[in-house]
Amino acid sequence: MPVITAIDLVYDYGARRAVDGVSLALERGELVALIGPNGAGKTTLLSMLAGVLAPTTGAAVTHGRVGWVPQIGAVYSRLSVAENLRFFARLEAVPDAEAAVAAMIEQMELGERRAEPVGRLSGGNRQRVNVGIGLLGAPAALLLDEPTAALDPLQRERLWGFIHRFVATGTAVLFSTHDMEEAGQRPDRVLEMVDGRLV
Ligand SMILES: Nc1ncnc2c1ncn2[C@@H]1O[C@H](COP(=O)(O)OP(=O)(O)OP(=O)(O)O)[C@@H](O)[C@H]1O
Ligand SMILES: [Mg+2]
Repeated sequence: MPVITAIDLVYDYGARRAVDGVSLALERGELVALIGPNGAGKTTLLSMLAGVLAPTTGAAVTHGRVGWVPQIGAVYSRLSVAENLRFFARLEAVPDAEAAVAAMIEQMELGERRAEPVGRLSGGNRQRVNVGIGLLGAPAALLLDEPTAALDPLQRERLWGFIHRFVATGTAVLFSTHDMEEAGQRPDRVLEMVDGRLV
């Protein structure tokens, strides 16, 4: 059974149709890339799959929790790494929030930074906090919007290392990117989006 099934998703911003009838299925343990030019509709599609945007028509059906890593993380810069994770764990009603936070700090190798305000972190560390928030509570699927766009090659590799580890444990991962720059990540599938449609 797919973790996410999208059925004929459509999204209109007023008169502008941003997503124009997208159907897809995301399976357990799959790494899938969503590529397309600026304005293709990637962020709008991912937002509907994440459940943060209600489709104009169509439906996104999910089995299990879906983690969401927006392009601009919604972290609190004055709160520490641990405080941010704890805040989002509670917001998402993750069972045993304290244990989930401790596990995520260890898995994302943020131990040395746990008490540091997120606003003082490097871009790479901050993005690891964002991804860690998306992965709290072991979601069945993780959706990431241009996760490595702002990272240097070394930080990019490092982040992909973490993501691949979660894919290996069965998490389904769908990420957007502008071009084939991330092809080195050997996704199982590449979905190409143009003008709101998968081509
Ligand atoms: N809040 C909004 N109000 C009106 N139109 C919007 C809004 N957000 C996006 N759009 C329009 O919807 C279309 C799809 O935008 P979207 O952000 O989903 O594309 P994208 O593929 O993520 O682009 P990018 O690669 O630049 O991030 C674009 O034409 C965009 O201008
Ligand atoms: Mg976008």
